[in-house]
Amino acid sequence: MGDEAADAIHAHLTGPPTPGVRVHPGRLDLATLAQATGWRLTPLPWTQDAAVLDARGDRPGLHPLHEAGAYYLQDPAATAPAAALDVRPGERVADLAAAPGGKATALGAALRGRGTLLANEVHPERVTTLARNLERFGIANAVVTHAPVADLADRLEGRFDAVLLDAPCSGEGMFAKSDAARRDWSPAAVSACAARQDELLPHAARLLAPGGRLVYATCTFAREENEAVVERLLRARPDLRAAPAGVPGSDPGDVDPAGPLPADAVARLWPHRAPGDGHVLIRLVREGATPTPAPPDVATSDAVPPLDREAREAWAAFADATFRDGGWADAVVVRVDDRLWLDADRALLEALGPLPVLRRGLPLGRLRRGRLEPAHALAMATAGTDVRRRVALDVEGAAVRRWLAGEEATLDDVGVTPPEGPDGDGYARVEVLGAPLGWGRISGRRLRNLRPKGLRRTS
Ligand SMILES: C[S@@+](CC[C@H](N)C(=O)[O-])C[C@H]1O[C@@H](n2cnc3c(N)ncnc32)[C@H](O)[C@@H]1O
Repeated sequence: MGDEAADAIHAHLTGPPTPGVRVHPGRLDLATLAQATGWRLTPLPWTQDAAVLDARGDRPGLHPLHEAGAYYLQDPAATAPAAALDVRPGERVADLAAAPGGKATALGAALRGRGTLLANEVHPERVTTLARNLERFGIANAVVTHAPVADLADRLEGRFDAVLLDAPCSGEGMFAKSDAARRDWSPAAVSACAARQDELLPHAARLLAPGGRLVYATCTFAREENEAVVERLLRARPDLRAAPAGVPGSDPGDVDPAGPLPADAVARLWPHRAPGDGHVLIRLVREGATPTPAPPDVATSDAVPPLDREAREAWAAFADATFRDGGWADAVVVRVDDRLWLDADRALLEALGPLPVLRRGLPLGRLRRGRLEPAHALAMATAGTDVRRRVALDVEGAAVRRWLAGEEATLDDVGVTPPEGPDGDGYARVEVLGAPLGWGRISGRRLRNLRPKGLRRTS
């Protein structure tokens, strides 16, 4: 790219990285986040939910609203692929290389609790971070797997309305962030990544239902790892066609002029020309009828074995004492050993067969001596309007910091009047600005802290 490469791109790639934030649209918007924190947020042209972040010396990863799944810290450019997939509630969506979850949390939030997200990460040690981030975001309808993409395609061919392959790549867009990315780069690494992408992308495409959409993305600029990979796919699959990427502020692709990929199906987000450290995405559609969103694919009572009496009674007692107006009472619950789950998508789970599933939907809790100990994930997925008891902590106060450290509290400490009558003692949704931090248990004036030990803040 001549002078551009020598000066402007080089200046960006040698850092510092561009901080970014993406909000959970079901929890707050950018204006509310700016008001609550005093951070300066510069909006992006391609989504209402993300911004370039100037946290003015704060550490945004340690803010209570981060713990409450109100936002995710992400390179601004990396927010474009999930936005370009344009997910609608009720769809069945797959994110095939999903850890740590930057894009999966956006796709899950866009589903607004309806339909299914299959979030897959092949590396078992990375998949737990993915599950934790989906939990923080309160995504109840996610199936989390750690399987090779080829195995998923063999078992789930043709089932998805929308597929994201955010492929492992040579990471040129990571140069500002990571010494390792700069050190590990070589022309041979680009070729090796292209060969792996050539393997993965055709399997990703097999997962599409007729009319389904696919976004292929990388955080690298090499044509070999972007346009060239998709051009080979399009030559092999005439039922796929390119679609306009629709990312305002992006550059078009570096395409083969005689090839099957038009330049406008590609969005190149160069770090010196668009906000962020760089990304490339390409949008494809499979020919055929556009699928209407599937009906909400939660388990139906005749599709699952009935719960045994102990589990049924424990769940009913918990749900009755915790949720208002029968909220969650209709949930069809599945028992696996001593744990209860709300399955995200029975048909999908059955089709997965023996492939490793880390989460089959929403963990509800664990049975102990005939009672349900509710899962943290359930609190994170529960709307404030669902519960009988809420404890709202001041986002700025000391009480929220102590709570995140796992300390016990009294209702006086947190300025809450003890509830009375049947809504007195029991599980409460502890929250900041309406977003959940987990369960507390009210007993008289005491508020027991049920945040999982592994999440407690020690500094
Ligand atoms: C660019 S990262 C994904 C980032 C993620 N989508 C996000 O937004 O947070 C690529 C992922 O691909 C995974 N990966 C590496 N080799 C793979 C393979 N052969 N098949 C599938 N995924 C692979 C990596 O472990 C990594 O998590």
